[in-house]
Amino acid sequence: MTVVKTINEVRQFVKEARLKGMTIGFVPTMGFLHEGHLSLMREAKTQTDYVVVSIFVNPTQFGPTEDLATYPRDLARDQTLCESVGVDLIFAPEVEEMYPSGYSTIVDCEGPITKQLCGASRPTHFKGVTSVVAKLFNIVLPDKAFFGQKDAQQVAVIEKMVKELNFDVEIVPCPIVREEDGLAMSSRNTYLDAEARRQALVLSQSLNAAKASIDAGVTRVSELISLIRETIQKATLAEIDYVQIVDATTLLAIDELNDDTLIALAVKFEKTRLIDNLRIRRR
Ligand code: PAJ
Repeated sequence: MTVVKTINEVRQFVKEARLKGMTIGFVPTMGFLHEGHLSLMREAKTQTDYVVVSIFVNPTQFGPTEDLATYPRDLARDQTLCESVGVDLIFAPEVEEMYPSGYSTIVDCEGPITKQLCGASRPTHFKGVTSVVAKLFNIVLPDKAFFGQKDAQQVAVIEKMVKELNFDVEIVPCPIVREEDGLAMSSRNTYLDAEARRQALVLSQSLNAAKASIDAGVTRVSELISLIRETIQKATLAEIDYVQIVDATTLLAIDELNDDTLIALAVKFEKTRLIDNLRIRRR
């Protein structure tokens, strides 16, 4: 495994792999890796020959009052984890390499898809994500890029960007990886104290309750949202940002479950904002 910090080096290594006839897989991350990230890398390893991982805490996707300065970082540990799953190349640039002084180009996917859900409380977040992912795609030129359904809105936005800007890359969405007790894995879980960590289980519990209702025949979105909110509100530390049920592709609100629905929620526990979701596909 090789670790590089410059765009030119990435281009060189990827070009060499291509000359050997290898296909390129790409997993963009912000580091502080956990099983969720590693599951994407394992999938990349099964579907492509040469796997590139980027580790970059992208400043442009953090709002002014968010956790950019405190976001956990541990490159040495991340390297060991990447090596353990057979990653071929890590790209870990400094901010200056990605955004040299005077940098001013942004890629912004406009419209409801970035204004709803997380976009409502994080209004500049997705343009930071699309800008950095577009840059990374141009640097790595992967055949396939692997993203977690944990960030379902991010996947929908990136799929739209790839289609509309004609990026020659296949987006491969991968399932949410959870702790044994159901909490979706996240680098931000490290911010939770013991009590908040315990209470945070209401997120997956509320989604499970919604799933049980759907299996029992409930299709009215308002009824499902009430059930989810009631379950979450049992946790005294929980402060709901949103609970929404939307079309999984457009992310527009619906009144009744359709063929492909996304139940998405964001809840704050003290200063830590956690997200979770459940995709319901019906014939
Ligand atoms: P980060 O939060 O580090 O996540 C990197 C990738 O890991 C994303 O595709 C995310 O959805 C996936 N992931 C995180 N937790 C997961 C889990 N529990 N199960 C499955 N996949 C999980 O998402 C970002 O970084 C950034 O926005 C990025 C795309 C790198 C752009 O800066």
